[in-house]
Amino acid sequence: MASIDRTHLAQLLERERLTYRASNPKSLELYNSASNLFGSVPMTWMNKWSGGFPLYFETAHGNRIVDVDGHEYVDFALGDTGAMAGHSPKQSIKAIEDRIKTGGGITTMLPTEDAQWVGKELTKRFGLPLWSFTLTATDANRWAIRLARLATGKSKILVFSYCYHGSVDETFAVPDSTGKAVSRPGNVAPPVPLDHTTRVVEFNDLAAVERELQNGDVAAILTEPALTNIGIVPPQPGFLSSLRDLATQYGALLMIDETHTFSAGPGGMTKRDGITPDIFIIGKSIGAGIPSGAYGLSQEVADAISNHPDADLIDVGGVGGTLAGNALSLAAMRATLGEVLTDQAFEHMIELGTRYAGQVQDVLDRYDIPWSIVQIGARAEYRFTRPAPINGTESANASDDYLDEFMHLYMCNRGILMTPFHNMALMCPTTTTVDVDLHGELFESAIKELVQL
Ligand SMILES: Cc1ncc(COP(=O)(O)O)c(C=O)c1O
Repeated sequence: MASIDRTHLAQLLERERLTYRASNPKSLELYNSASNLFGSVPMTWMNKWSGGFPLYFETAHGNRIVDVDGHEYVDFALGDTGAMAGHSPKQSIKAIEDRIKTGGGITTMLPTEDAQWVGKELTKRFGLPLWSFTLTATDANRWAIRLARLATGKSKILVFSYCYHGSVDETFAVPDSTGKAVSRPGNVAPPVPLDHTTRVVEFNDLAAVERELQNGDVAAILTEPALTNIGIVPPQPGFLSSLRDLATQYGALLMIDETHTFSAGPGGMTKRDGITPDIFIIGKSIGAGIPSGAYGLSQEVADAISNHPDADLIDVGGVGGTLAGNALSLAAMRATLGEVLTDQAFEHMIELGTRYAGQVQDVLDRYDIPWSIVQIGARAEYRFTRPAPINGTESANASDDYLDEFMHLYMCNRGILMTPFHNMALMCPTTTTVDVDLHGELFESAIKELVQL
């Protein structure tokens, strides 16, 4: 097995940092002059980009980004899935322009016909019959958790260690040595101790799920069908169907968040693998970047909510988001789902995802590198451990900040953007085999440098 010398890695990383700094003087200058921005960026997570400062971009079309220093990049980050339809796809832009310029009315508190079209489309893709709209997946998760508590009369949610569902207080949990939910390292100011709201176990551990459900206080199990925010951790065979059975057996709802795993196909993993959630959450990509999120409800859950004697879902209940369901989001969703993220587009994107993952695997095999790569349709991600982790804690333990930064900067300095959060790559409808092959070549040359061949 090839090994990577840490002193050598530190030298390579320093070389890439210096190159990045020298190649991006305008971005650096803009960053250094952002004195009225908290953390010098529009949102603090933008400091996650490697190299000490983010690139400022000038234009973004399809899977290409041009930065203020004039470099063009093949973009495999795609806004961490927000731009899975590609940047500014022309069909979405036409609908957005029509709404803004011709029809007018970005947000009015009144519905447009587009909402019904999008609801039908989401039912066709993901199966759930009834839909509501939000501006983000975080909003959708937050609101859906409240509805799950209302529908079941139970107070807690069960999540998996190192999951991510947006900034949802209940979800930033890991188990302590006794299995009690405690705040995940780095969590920001939880309102109450995590065990008041949350039960948490490891992904793929059905015995632990059942043990926690036996307490009788879990309103919903909330999970991605494969974890995608701590590397990609796929479900083991039978895990999701057993989760479904356990939820039913113990009177909890199954909430499936496909914000990222939508990459699996036009109906996400839910359609591909026959999952039957009670509540479904999606966001990010469905409006081509115009803030859009949605949650779907089964008829049973909708009935339980509607028949609840106390809750007021129209006024007092704190229904989130004055701008939710706005005309612009719905126009963007209609065009993006109807004309951009089509069956045909997914076929192309998944083919490229397979090509990408195959090339990375081939290099790992040929140089005997102890890393692994996992693919979910149009998305693939490598992790610095082999075999691929089976739960969030295993995957978290495989983190390597230095290797991470080196791989990001190595790619960026040679014209490829990877998502700043770990080593995810995503294909969009305009990604090409040439783009993927460029990554494959650069990945091999990075590996050769790392193992000093
Ligand atoms: C699975 C999942 N759900 C929800 C979210 C939250 O999305 P947003 O930040 O757009 O609200 C994310 C963000 O990465 C996510 O990965």
